[in-house]
Amino acid sequence: MWNSVAPGWEANAEFVDEHLAAATDALLDAAEITAGDAVLELAAGPGGAGLRAAQRVGPEGSIVLSDDAAEMVAVAARRAIGHPQVSTAVFDQSQINAEDGHFDAVISRHGLMFAEDPGGAVKEAARVLRPRGSFAAMTWGPRSMNPWLGLVLDAVGEQFGVPFPPPNIRGPFSLDDAALLASVLEEGGLADVHVQAVETPMHSASVQAWWERVPQLAGPLATALAAMEPDVRGQIAQRAMNAGAQASRRDGDQIVFSGSVLIASGRAPED
Ligand SMILES: C[S@@+](CC[C@H](N)C(=O)[O-])C[C@H]1O[C@@H](n2cnc3c(N)ncnc32)[C@H](O)[C@@H]1O
Repeated sequence: MWNSVAPGWEANAEFVDEHLAAATDALLDAAEITAGDAVLELAAGPGGAGLRAAQRVGPEGSIVLSDDAAEMVAVAARRAIGHPQVSTAVFDQSQINAEDGHFDAVISRHGLMFAEDPGGAVKEAARVLRPRGSFAAMTWGPRSMNPWLGLVLDAVGEQFGVPFPPPNIRGPFSLDDAALLASVLEEGGLADVHVQAVETPMHSASVQAWWERVPQLAGPLATALAAMEPDVRGQIAQRAMNAGAQASRRDGDQIVFSGSVLIASGRAPED
């Protein structure tokens, strides 16, 4: 599924990185990334968080951008050209292809919620961290605080009279609660667990531009929309844009939606 939306993510990579710039800096702060560190980014997609971390680790450090979707990793590799300390790898966040204790820090931006067993994925991340190495993960906060995405999903669900994505499928809001997220890191064996919320308002040129962009990024949604008849897609678009016009506010010559993420961090145990 994520392979099929890699072109949309490549086209929008700079927009995503700009939208999440302040939150990503908070993620790298939480992971305490400094010059010379060896850093692994999990579920990296186009690698925006890892590429930002490359500026912190400098030429003496190293970054691995990893994802289980080969097409996403290809995008990350293209974006890493000119950064000799950055390499890429294809693997699942639950089966990391690295030796025990190899990294100073492991980071993840909007990937942990898609793991079938998030606690197991954190445990696997802890395995590849040196003793007291840092783990930090960003997830979306509650759907009600992220109308830029929630309204698009609502419009699909209302069209068919069922929740979207279905409750049995892991989706963008599967780890949207601070206590739940903290418990996942603790279940993974991390110590000193801390969770903070960071606001991530999303700007757009117009409601139409917002509608045209967001479905390209939402993996399950993009797949579902592509399979629909054009008139059904049109009805969903109209419903989403009506709701988007209500939920956004003007900010100069743009519109802005509210947004919120959670950033959870913890440390691998002593040896
Ligand atoms: C919402 S995108 C986030 C991309 C990127 N981290 C960012 O913030 O720009 C989710 C990413 O998680 C990846 N992903 C989903 N499940 C995964 C898994 N089990 N192992 C590794 N990557 C996974 C997808 O391929 C996709 O690139």
